[in-house]
This record gives sequence, structure tokens and C-alpha cells, in this order.
Amino acid sequence: MERSLESILVTGGSGFIGSNFIRHLLAQEGFSGRIVNADALTYAGNPLNLADLQDDERYTFIQADIRDEEAVARLFSEYEVDTVVHFAAESHVDRSIFGPRDFITTNVMGTFTLLEAAREAWGDRPDVLFHHVSTDEVYGSLGDTGAFLETTAYDPKSPYSASKAGSDHLVRAWAHTFHLPVTISNCSNNYGPYQFPEKLVPVMILNMVEGKPLPVYGQGLNVRDWLYVGDHAQAIWTILQHGPAGETYNVGGENEWRNIDLVKHLCDVVAKQTGEPEDDYLRLITYVTDRPGHDHRYAIDCAKIKRELGWRQAHDFPSGLSETVAWYLANTEWIASVRSGEYRTWMETNYAGRGSVNDHGR
Ligand code: NAD
Ligand code: TYD
Repeated sequence: MERSLESILVTGGSGFIGSNFIRHLLAQEGFSGRIVNADALTYAGNPLNLADLQDDERYTFIQADIRDEEAVARLFSEYEVDTVVHFAAESHVDRSIFGPRDFITTNVMGTFTLLEAAREAWGDRPDVLFHHVSTDEVYGSLGDTGAFLETTAYDPKSPYSASKAGSDHLVRAWAHTFHLPVTISNCSNNYGPYQFPEKLVPVMILNMVEGKPLPVYGQGLNVRDWLYVGDHAQAIWTILQHGPAGETYNVGGENEWRNIDLVKHLCDVVAKQTGEPEDDYLRLITYVTDRPGHDHRYAIDCAKIKRELGWRQAHDFPSGLSETVAWYLANTEWIASVRSGEYRTWMETNYAGRGSVNDHGR
């Protein structure tokens, strides 16, 4: 049975990865359907992210909260949804430490609400799919070697990763118990345009431009694997088309960096584009109090999606990072918009007193 893929409900499509995914999908020759983006527009969701699509007849935006049962049920019936790509979540680990409540209500209860609406709307239709977008952080933290496999036992450590692990378990339970056709992807750290400037890469680029300290948590020795957001979007599109129901795929960049090395590398990339001396950026590096419970290392083994579905990373790190830096340097209006309002208040409240542990300018 072929999947319909005619009416795709994207949740959280006004955020970083969701907006990149929608733009990616609408550019695919093989996609002939329509997209409904349901997003609550929290501090992380921004209509500007998809402003260029407002005249595209294949795209509809609905402001809706995935915790709102009635609103979610209405989306399924009004738009005859046959596919869900579920991005909507609270996504920032630091925020989950300062205030975990929204992580539980959105990531766990919101996913539950969507699963129930899908079950109700779809019955036993075989041509539908619920794709859940998740993170490698559900697997916990690695030592200096090894990589997460799809079979690695869950061991989440932060309120964020615990809430995502909870949502993954719900999705699998709905597949097992109610035969809902589902797929899950667990991806490593994404970078690229439209990422909210609270995550590492945009924080560093924007602080360099503004001459502000570059806050490196702890000693900067934690390791992350970085994937260009467009490659993540393509992995999800590949799964929607070819991934059998019930399967989970790890998605990663095979591109590990210690935070401090990445920040120094970014100083080089930004200096090349602004023409400013790299040393002026390097001396902004400031080691600050570590994140509580900071996971040491994430690394993804993505052999399965490569082998079984033929997905590959299309962007190498130098070109992806250089494009990303260029995008942030050019899009000052977007930056001013996302940094106004609630975000600024939150930063002032929670980060104002964040002490610098030492100040190794170099
Ligand atoms: P983001 O924070 O940029 O965007 C989240 C979006 O969800 C926003 O548009 C926000 O308005 C919306 N949202 C939040 N709560 C909502 C609610 N209750 N109802 C409706 N919409 C709501 O996040 P992102 O970085 O784009 O991440 C998207 C998904 O990918 C998340 O599920 C995240 O766990 C997962 N993921 C992210 C990364 C990463 O590196 N950013 C890596 C792996 C997986
Ligand atoms: P982040 O972008 O928050 O993603 P995640 O915590 O989900 O991996 O952080 C990436 C890494 O960078 C993480 O080890 C924390 C660290 N970090 C800093 O050192 N300074 C910062 O200002 C931020 C935002 C993160």
C-alpha cells in the first residue's frame, strides 16, 4: 500500500527545523500534496521564518496549540490529514532546567493529544503515517568512544531529553497497541538558518558580531555531532516516502566537535566573512559556569538510514557553516525580531547573574 502524502500536518513548522523542512518539502519535485503548519508561536516560533510562502497555495498556517484537544481534532477533519510530521516541542535544554513544566505539557501531553487525534481520525487506514521527530539525547551521554544505535537503551538525563524520551515511548506504544503507522527519527545537533539564538551556533555568531562574551559552558570539552538542517529535512522526507511503519532511524552528521574547538573554528569563519581580525573574536571566549548535569558526548551511528533508505549528508561542514554564518550576517531584521519581547525578558531574568568562571581570552 502506497502512502498518501497528500495532506501533511506539520506541527511546530514555524520553528527552526520545521520551517526548514516545510521549505525543503515544497521544493521537492516528488511532492504534490499540501502542507498545514500548526504552531502555537511560542517564543521559538516565528511567522517570519516562512514569510516567503504566504502566497503559496500549497501551504496553510494555523495558530494552534498541540495540547488543545479540540483544535487538534479540527485540524485532522478540516484538512483531511493523512500524514503528521511532529516537530512541535520545547527544545532547549537550558530552559528545561530553569522551568521544566512546558516540556512535560507540550512534549509529553501534546504528543499524546496528537496520537489520540490521529487514532480517532484514521481508524485502520494503512496509507497514513505519524512521523515523530526526536533527538539523540534520549540515549543519554557517551564516554569518549562509541556511538548511539537505534537499539541503544534509553537513558535520558535532562528534563528536555526525558520529555522527548517519554514522547518516543508514547509513539511506540500507540503503534504496538493501536497499530498506528508510525516512524521515529532521532537526530543529532542541527545547525543552519533560522535557528533561534539561544543554541550554541547562533549565540556565538551573534555575540561575535556584537562584541559580546562567547559563553563556553564548563571547560568546553563536551562533544556534539553537527548536522546541517537541510540534511535532516531530507532524511525526514526520505523516511516519509520509504521508511516502513514501525521503524526508527538515527540521523547524524558524523561530524563530532568539542564545543571549544567549534567556537574557535566559528571565530575563524566569522572573521573571514566580516573582515575583522580573528583575534578580536577569540579574545571574547569566556568560560562560564557549567550547565547542571551537562551530557558529556553525543555521537550517532546513522548506518541504518544510509543502508536501508539510501540517505546521505549532502552538506559538508565547511560549506554548511559558511552558509549559516553568511545567513546570520545578512538577516539582521530576523534577528532583531526574534530577540525582542519575551525572549529578552527571559535572558535578562535567567542569565543576568551567570558568572564567568575564568577568562581565557585565547
Ligand atoms: P524550535 O524550538 O526552534 O521550534 C519549536 C516549534 O514548536 C516552535 O515554532 C514553537 O512555536 C512550536 N511549539 C512549541 N510548543 C508548542 C505547542 N504546545 N503547540 C504547538 N506548537 C508548539 O525547535 P527545533 O530546534 O526546530 O526542533 C524541532 C524538533 O526537532 C523538536 O521536536 C526537537 O526535539 C527536535 N530535534 C531538534 C534538534 C536540534 O538540534 N534543534 C535535534 C534533534 C531533534
Ligand atoms: P545547545 O545548542 O544548547 O544544544 P544541546 O544542549 O541540545 O546539545 O548546546 C550545544 C553544546 O554547547 C552543549 O554542550 C552546551 C554548549 N553551549 C555552550 O557552551 N554555550 C552556550 O552559550 C550554549 C547555548 C551551549
